[in-house]
Amino acid sequence: MIVAPSLLSADFANLERDIKRVEQAGADWLHIDVMDGHFVPNITIGVPVVKSIKKAASVPLDVHLMIENPENYVEAFLDAGADIITFHYEAVADPEALIQKIRLLGGHAGVSIKPKTPPEVLKGLTPNLILIMTVEPGFGGQAFMPECAEKITTVKRNAPKGTIIQVDGGINEQTGKICADLGATSLVAGNYIFKSDDFVRAIMSLRGGQNGK
Ligand code: DX5
Ligand code: ZN
Repeated sequence: MIVAPSLLSADFANLERDIKRVEQAGADWLHIDVMDGHFVPNITIGVPVVKSIKKAASVPLDVHLMIENPENYVEAFLDAGADIITFHYEAVADPEALIQKIRLLGGHAGVSIKPKTPPEVLKGLTPNLILIMTVEPGFGGQAFMPECAEKITTVKRNAPKGTIIQVDGGINEQTGKICADLGATSLVAGNYIFKSDDFVRAIMSLRGGQNGK
């Protein structure tokens, strides 16, 4: 299980401290939520902040673009240090072309679907990662939508072997287990990790038990 704490729930005035804390607690990746106020009704961070995070981080940066026209920005985010770039299926006309572009530029490509988007739309695409949103994208701290997690089965069946199946939104020990049992191989968690008083325990619980896996 790849555990990716979402920095959206970190203390932005102490980002380096929080990055170190989650890395020391066992984070596999850092999940970075980029929002533009158009694709979603919220604005978060952009390229310069990702560049600064890269300097402080020692694990891969998993950049989740919740923006319109992502094709115009992938190069800048990769230059800033993104390792995985996930864009939204709903934001592009030709998802496979953008997957190829990200790979050609040296990144790993992810495609995400919002709660109302059916899993079948992803059939035939060849991303490295598929991100199933289990909340409406835009804000941390929302309640997990179980009906979205059910898409994991279909997505997994249709995706090329080895595709990472990631889930994002309302993930905690209980909802993370539901997703893991359905076949998720990566969990994003914001509030559950950053609002906990024991990052090690929180991250370990997402791996499936005390010993972690
Ligand atoms: C929501 C973001 C998530 C968010 C998750 O649009 O994509 O990554 O930070 O936060 P929690 O885990 O608190 O739901
Ligand atoms: Zn996210």
